[in-house]
Amino acid sequence: MIGRPTVSDGVACWRIAAASGVLDVNSRYAYLLWCRDFAATSVVARDGADVIGFVTGFRRPDEPSTLVVWQVAVDEVARGRGVAGRMLDALFDAVPDVGHLETTITPDNEGSIALFSRFAQRRGAEVRRSELFSAELLGAGHEPEILFRIGPVRH
Ligand SMILES: CC(C)(COP(=O)(O)OP(=O)(O)OC[C@H]1O[C@@H](n2cnc3c(N)ncnc32)[C@H](O)[C@@H]1OP(=O)(O)O)[C@@H](O)C(=O)NCCC(=O)NCCS
Repeated sequence: MIGRPTVSDGVACWRIAAASGVLDVNSRYAYLLWCRDFAATSVVARDGADVIGFVTGFRRPDEPSTLVVWQVAVDEVARGRGVAGRMLDALFDAVPDVGHLETTITPDNEGSIALFSRFAQRRGAEVRRSELFSAELLGAGHEPEILFRIGPVRH
């Protein structure tokens, strides 16, 4: 079941992010705050009472018709079953008056590239790629973050 997160889901989101081994892990506080203040632009997937995946997002303040997806993760045991794709669809359809979706992906993240490319294909939308944050800017051996701008997306 996919729906809006509540504050009590924050730690589960943090745990899934940390266990992924590939995401930049933010503080527990950040995930709790996100589940409080950005719940309308985020979703969690549940299997019974357990959170098995999440998408955190926000409306871009300078361009409110763009939904930015910040992080997506699915618990390892639940991967490969379409959970992330369904979360993206549910999230995009739950946010009114958005026409574009943006996210950044590191070039080595094949799963994430496939996930967002498939979303664009399902919606018949174009994907424009450009570097948002270079490796030099990020520092500490971080891969560059490539902006995927998808749209216009039909609901
Ligand atoms: C990326 C991630 C969220 C995908 O979750 P998932 O529930 O397994 O994804 P889905 O089953 O919905 O797959 C969506 C599509 O991507 C493809 N895909 C998923 N993982 C893939 C991988 N590792 N390599 C290639 N393709 C992949 C699927 O085949 C599917 O395509 P299809 O519609 O043609 O079948 C999950 O692997 C994850 O949590 N990874 C660690 C965190 C991460 O990298 N997050 C993204 C960056 S923010």
